[in-house]
Amino acid sequence: MKTAFITGATSGIGLAFAKLLSEQGYALILHGRNQSKLDELEKTLPNVQLTITADLSISQQVAQLITELENYQDQISIAINNAGFGLYGKDLDLKGSDVEAMLAVNISALTTLSRYFSKTMAKYGSGYILNVASTAAYQPQPYFAAYAATKAYVASFTEALAVEMKSSGVTLTCLSPGRTNTGFYTFDGVDAAKDSSGTFDMKHRADPAKIAELGLKSMFKGKLREIPLLENKFFIFLNRVLPRSVVLKMYEQAMQNI
Ligand SMILES: NC(=O)c1ccc[n+]([C@@H]2O[C@H](COP(=O)([O-])OP(=O)(O)OC[C@H]3O[C@@H](n4cnc5c(N)ncnc54)[C@H](OP(=O)(O)O)[C@@H]3O)[C@@H](O)[C@H]2O)c1
Repeated sequence: MKTAFITGATSGIGLAFAKLLSEQGYALILHGRNQSKLDELEKTLPNVQLTITADLSISQQVAQLITELENYQDQISIAINNAGFGLYGKDLDLKGSDVEAMLAVNISALTTLSRYFSKTMAKYGSGYILNVASTAAYQPQPYFAAYAATKAYVASFTEALAVEMKSSGVTLTCLSPGRTNTGFYTFDGVDAAKDSSGTFDMKHRADPAKIAELGLKSMFKGKLREIPLLENKFFIFLNRVLPRSVVLKMYEQAMQNI
């Protein structure tokens, strides 16, 4: 039985990955911040080999997580860097420490883990790494400024590293979901359920199970990137061909009226 490691497996898209890979017979090493949520998962999901808690915004805890993974490096054939969060609002209104924590989770921890798994998997000549970015990666987003920039980093870093790893047997894939129905939309001071602007639209969010399924499919094919669903592909294409000033105006209007 091969093993899959997933960060942020306690909810949303991460949990959907865990369920799908468990159904496919993978043993699971699940990461989360909350041990009681992980204990619950251990009871409900078959094939949970190990659970590890770590706050990925704290570099010592990322290092500790890697130490715990050392004994399993010959078994882990899939690593999914999924944990992440967003901060919504005018950038200067956000708390500096919260922004730093977001950069640490979305960028630093993901980079450290991608480098670790690229190295260890290359020793065995095979492996899949799936990094979760966002459609926010593909254009600047006022009121989501730092979050969108972290995801631009994820997409850029993952694709470039994938090319460097191409003769190692290890593939890296970047998954960029659009709005998905998870716990992601819990921002300080914003009731996403009451958002009438459409930005955090509750009705048209994708099912995390579908997003995870599409991500895994592309990962197993060794594709560089997966942008799930036609409307997301369309908007990313549009944002690429429109002048940047127009794109910025569109996002300014969409994001500020909440
Ligand atoms: N939902 C969307 O619309 C959407 C769209 C594009 C991209 N994404 C990306 O998809 C990924 C998964 O998010 P989701 O939508 O499934 O949201 P979610 O339900 O809130 O899940 C996020 C996961 O990340 C973990 N996490 C957050 N901060 C952490 C920290 N400091 N240390 C360790 N773990 C931490 C959470 O753990 P706790 O449960 O313990 O907090 C949780 O397991 C994220 O990278 C997100 O940016 C989501």
